[in-house]
Amino acid sequence: MALELEASEIKNHHKRVAYIAVSIGEALELQSQELLELYCAASVHDIGAVKTVEKKCLLNVNVRLQNNHSCYKGYHLLKNVPHFENISKIILHHQDCWSERKETYSFDLLSDLIHVADLMVSTLTNTHILHQHSEIMDKLNDAFGTVLRPDLKDVINEIGTRQSFWLDLMSPYIDKLTLEKLDKDSFEVNFTFEALRSLIQVYSKIIDMKCNFTYRHSHLVTNSVVQLGMLAGLSSDKVRRLELSGLMHDLGKISIPESILRKSGPLTSDEFKIIQQHAYHTYHIIKNIPEFSDIARWAAFHHERLDGKGYPFRVGRADLDIGCRIVAVADIFSALIEDRPYRSGLDRGQIEATFIKIVKDNAVDAEIVHLLFENYDLFEYVKEFTEVLSNYES
Ligand SMILES: [Fe+2]
Ligand SMILES: [Fe+2]
Ligand SMILES: [Fe+2]
Repeated sequence: MALELEASEIKNHHKRVAYIAVSIGEALELQSQELLELYCAASVHDIGAVKTVEKKCLLNVNVRLQNNHSCYKGYHLLKNVPHFENISKIILHHQDCWSERKETYSFDLLSDLIHVADLMVSTLTNTHILHQHSEIMDKLNDAFGTVLRPDLKDVINEIGTRQSFWLDLMSPYIDKLTLEKLDKDSFEVNFTFEALRSLIQVYSKIIDMKCNFTYRHSHLVTNSVVQLGMLAGLSSDKVRRLELSGLMHDLGKISIPESILRKSGPLTSDEFKIIQQHAYHTYHIIKNIPEFSDIARWAAFHHERLDGKGYPFRVGRADLDIGCRIVAVADIFSALIEDRPYRSGLDRGQIEATFIKIVKDNAVDAEIVHLLFENYDLFEYVKEFTEVLSNYES
């Protein structure tokens, strides 16, 4: 899961919160649809905590209780995404202090279950789980009736008596164990193309919160990819799929600390190695989506080269189909024409000189580059309107 990639301190946080929340929901005999919504909300409940410092705050229970702006950010990110309206409302209230809540909300039980699970996970230490679970339960029991909803106390204490519950929580099979509690038939959600696109937009907004020029960049790559796809005569279905790959190509940057993403000077070689891993993560995030294997390759191979000297997979010409080649050219074009923290955007002459060199070096496809420069006015226009739209949206 993309949200788990960052900051080793919070590794598995969402998985563990989801496991606990679903376990309690199961004991409360929630209906399968409710349990599924609980699982989805718990799995992304901290989506609004984007920056490394915000993620680290989540581990400090005292700071966390006073600072729930990440709930609002999470709510705003998801509230307009089809199928995520309820999930956004659950997230909005997942850190409500029980004794201070003035009114009831439609999903407050689910929010409160995530709150309990979140507190339990935030209390975990590196000690063996069976050596610390009584202490965790003591801390939790102190919070019922003040911070936490009191009518959940008995059911949680009952679950907490099982060693298997605690062992599951630390298990490498935790995903499977959580999914086993859900009704497989309730998984049937038909995402339309537009719904999928708005969900993917959420991820570009998250990356934007970490580093604002990346959002504009992802959109310029996307719009350039669409134009190149049409100029290359690809089918409209393929162009739509290419559009998604443009939006997602730098998704793996979610795993890179902002200190590197936002650095205004040149990167050290160690920092460059860290940033290079983004394409690897892009690949593994997308390839888990059913029927997205072509999009995963198009998106994640944008730093690969025809001569096989790119990164991170070092695949060559035979593995780089037209989709990969289009995204690679669009990415380089976008990076060169955009203003960056350390330099202004380059002019046509400078960009053309760069492409002549990399075509000669056998890095990118000459025909796609030809399409770009044969229609250069169009791409300059694409850059301008992408900038206007990005300023309006962000
Ligand atoms: Fe959390
Ligand atoms: Fe990239
Ligand atoms: Fe990029």
